[in-house]
Amino acid sequence: MHWAAPSDDPAMRDLLDAAERERYDRFRRPADRARFVTGRFLARTVLAEVTGLAEGDIRFSTHCPHCGASHGKPRLPGHRVDFSLSHSGDRVVLAVTEGADIGVDVEQESDRDIERLAEMVLAAAEREVLAALPPERRRSAFHAYWSRKEAILKATGHGLAASMSAIRLSPPDAPAEVVAWDGEAAVSPVRLADLSAGPGYAASLAALTGRPLKITEQGP
Ligand SMILES: CC(C)(COP(=O)(O)OP(=O)(O)OC[C@H]1O[C@@H](n2cnc3c(N)ncnc32)[C@H](O)[C@@H]1OP(=O)(O)O)[C@@H](O)C(=O)NCCC(=O)NCCS
Repeated sequence: MHWAAPSDDPAMRDLLDAAERERYDRFRRPADRARFVTGRFLARTVLAEVTGLAEGDIRFSTHCPHCGASHGKPRLPGHRVDFSLSHSGDRVVLAVTEGADIGVDVEQESDRDIERLAEMVLAAAEREVLAALPPERRRSAFHAYWSRKEAILKATGHGLAASMSAIRLSPPDAPAEVVAWDGEAAVSPVRLADLSAGPGYAASLAALTGRPLKITEQGP
């Protein structure tokens, strides 16, 4: 795992390819630009080390297998390495591995209406778990569920195209695991781990493997 703080550094921006540069230009908010540039830079520097490629030669493919558009999970064609990027608030995180599909997600807790979001994100049994918690714990518990589920759907490459409420997870204060998953996107086995992103954030890693996860973390 590699963590970084977002920064729209011109030297990092220089490494973007033409399509990335177009996307960069479309972001209106400086914070979105910084998170994007930093994520792609982090991915390039770490993947260059892992593969021996030069940073400037790294081209990501973002082909979506579901609809053919270019908003799919970024991959490095021709290499066995799998990686996943996430950014939220002041956090940018990259997960890299070989031999399994992985997904990472970091979520800054916000004042979003979690009751309403829970209808979309949580299974019925999870909504009951949430409702039984003291009110002051519900927001962080909801974000823990959310980041675990998004990490899983980023590992499969579905992202928000698959139903989050079809996945039923262990309670937020128990070791993270899939309890049940019905639906067209379901895969097994899945390994999950919570990551420490600091106060006000939830972060999780998912790997589509039965092997235990061994996680090393670097960065701020
Ligand atoms: C993946 C997705 C859930 C990310 O949501 P998010 O919480 O806003 O953002 P995060 O910061 O956690 O993750 C964004 C990163 O995930 C990666 N990503 C994008 N699509 C992905 C996918 N389908 N699977 C896995 N990772 C994906 C990218 O690296 C992206 O960051 P970057 O473009 O700056 O490099 C969301 O963008 C999504 O669902 N995309 C799918 C596209 C879609 O709409 N499909 C429709 C059906 S065809």
